[in-house]
Amino acid sequence: MRERDTLYLTDFLRSADERARAAEFLRSGGLVVMPTETVYGLAANALDPLAVASIYVAKGRPSDNPLIVHIASVDALESVTAGAGEAARRLFARFSPGPLTLVLPRSPRLPATVTGGLETVGIRIPSHPAALALIEASGLPLAAPSANRSGRVSPTSFAMARVEMAGRVDAIIDGGDCAVGLESTVARVTDGAVVILRPGAVTLEMIRDALPGHAVSFADESALSRGIAAPSPGMRYAHYRPDAAVYCWHGGPVDGIGERGTRAVIGLAGCAAGVDAAFVREFESVEEYSARFFATLSECDAAGMETIIAQAVREEGLGAALMNRLRRASAGKSLGL
Ligand code: TXA
Ligand code: MG
Repeated sequence: MRERDTLYLTDFLRSADERARAAEFLRSGGLVVMPTETVYGLAANALDPLAVASIYVAKGRPSDNPLIVHIASVDALESVTAGAGEAARRLFARFSPGPLTLVLPRSPRLPATVTGGLETVGIRIPSHPAALALIEASGLPLAAPSANRSGRVSPTSFAMARVEMAGRVDAIIDGGDCAVGLESTVARVTDGAVVILRPGAVTLEMIRDALPGHAVSFADESALSRGIAAPSPGMRYAHYRPDAAVYCWHGGPVDGIGERGTRAVIGLAGCAAGVDAAFVREFESVEEYSARFFATLSECDAAGMETIIAQAVREEGLGAALMNRLRRASAGKSLGL
């Protein structure tokens, strides 16, 4: 991979010059890391097959894993899809801009490298003002996966994005900490049914509420472990692995799990009471736990923790998304169940 000089854009929303430079990188086939409300994304012109190919190189990702295409409003749907049905339009109207990606029939204009050869494309309208400003300044649909190197946790701060992508991209935009902190909900919408391929902050309950009369369900995560073809190619790959060993903790004693000097406990307020650990993070709500989850895993690594005991939460609402990431980070290691 060619080493790139990376420009840090730290005043993006106020500086017309910074926006012009980022837009120029994208128009000439370059890579720009952009903040979104979910996680930082590694963006390129979705219509340029070479630019898209360089995303896979920068991430070290297998090229059959499809990318999400980011647009600024539903007006751009025509240019990147082969049409969106009534249910999809209703979901976009209700939840976008925001953390929702809908899998729709793709436009023939999109290069096959964007969709990993699939006939569908994931479309998202992000709400972070810097992401919207970047799409508008470039005048392009932007293909962007999370800006982590493959298999690592998604960056949710400027500092994390720099660690992942310095020297691999042309610019990194500072947009502060990501408010949601977990990647968008990915859903496939067909006649009368919605299948959630990846849970996120637009929850199953919210989608049910928006589409009365539709069957709304999660894709079967366990199908993956049985070796059945994944409904979403991204579900096949290991994800969100910090260096430390992560345990999904349902409560109860944690004796014998890791050494006390290199053991972390994270979870909701009060979870660490009575547990001997060198690093403790307690959060006031599932929202805050989710928003800080990836950053906390990476802080644990930086602090030299070898074991992370991460409290499980109820699998409802946003809790379903957090548990999905926690199960993957822990690779099936669970305690107290
Ligand atoms: O919040 C997000 O979605 C972030 C920000 C940057 O927008 N992006 C993100 O992209 O998480 P990525 O590439 O890390 O994850 C995209 C997920 C993958 O699991 C991929 O397999 C799935 O979406 N996906 C994308 N296009 C798809 C399609 N056409 N059919 C099924 N799954 C698709
Ligand atoms: Mg990702």
